[in-house]
Amino acid sequence: MSQLEVSPLRRPRRLRQSPAIRDLVREHDFSLNDLVHPIFIEEGIDEPKDVSAMPGIVRYPEAMVEAEIKELAALGVRYVMPFGISRHKDELGSDTWNDEGLLARMIRTIKQACPEMVVIPDICFCEYTSHGHCGVVEDGHVCNDATVENLVKQSVAAARAGADMLAPSAMMDGQVRAIREGLDAAGFEQVAILAHSAKFSSAFYGPFRTAVDSELKGDRKGYQLDIANGRQALVEALLDEDEGADILMVKPGTPYLDVLANLRQRTDLPLASYQVGGEYAGIKYAAMAGALDEQQVVFETLVGFKRAGADLIVSYYTKQVAEWLAGK
Ligand code: PBG
Ligand code: ZN
Repeated sequence: MSQLEVSPLRRPRRLRQSPAIRDLVREHDFSLNDLVHPIFIEEGIDEPKDVSAMPGIVRYPEAMVEAEIKELAALGVRYVMPFGISRHKDELGSDTWNDEGLLARMIRTIKQACPEMVVIPDICFCEYTSHGHCGVVEDGHVCNDATVENLVKQSVAAARAGADMLAPSAMMDGQVRAIREGLDAAGFEQVAILAHSAKFSSAFYGPFRTAVDSELKGDRKGYQLDIANGRQALVEALLDEDEGADILMVKPGTPYLDVLANLRQRTDLPLASYQVGGEYAGIKYAAMAGALDEQQVVFETLVGFKRAGADLIVSYYTKQVAEWLAGK
């Protein structure tokens, strides 16, 4: 009988032999201190509406926002990112810098319902423009500098309404610097910027565009990053650091973990990842079909973002994660 002698010097399985030892050497974890919950709020409705492409996600009427925020706070959710569904769209998206407009009202309502809830509104125009683009359109293209001027107006209005942090997502050149200067000049030097720094022109945004009734025809390839360009993404992100961003975000999440990991090597700022609507929908529909264990898969994606270098994650699963962690 031939006997092969197996005696590895290194036995990595030693550290995987029991739950206690695995926990001892675990490198990454997540908690509600890392998770930002997006919330959709619609003008002019009385009942919540399901978002068709994102089962489990709803658009709330303004009258229900207070109750929803209190529920989130009771579950331990500490950070929210409101998105508006506007009934006041125009060419410029001017409702966004109106102190009585939807964006300002959403922020005020959330802060009134729960002053300790950290409110991080998306700063852009696409949900408020009649053409669905993220800025001022002239001769069929989005004008950079005119859009940046409007982004500053929107940012100051959001700060005036009580936003703690702003998440500019229009991908205009120079937007972070202009917003930082505009905020400082208006006395809002404590309002932070969570920059959508490396935002790719992704088909994973499809469900979100349904969720916000986007008017967009065509695409955003003239301003969002080409999906193939990892190095250009680093250039964009590092520019935002120079321009004064407090946190840099890569979006979408899972398909761009390489960008996140590479960026982690290039900056000491906190990093964020955005698990977008299409990523949520992919997991949710697969779970509904019985193809995978939803909770385990969601936890795996969140640990994955942390492992790749994210300090925080924007995810539509945040409320559900809070419920799971609470044993609900
Ligand atoms: C627009 C915006 C988008 C998202 C948030 N703000 C994408 C877009 O339409 O380009 C995407 C969020 C998601 O897909 O979940 N500035
Ligand atoms: Zn936009």
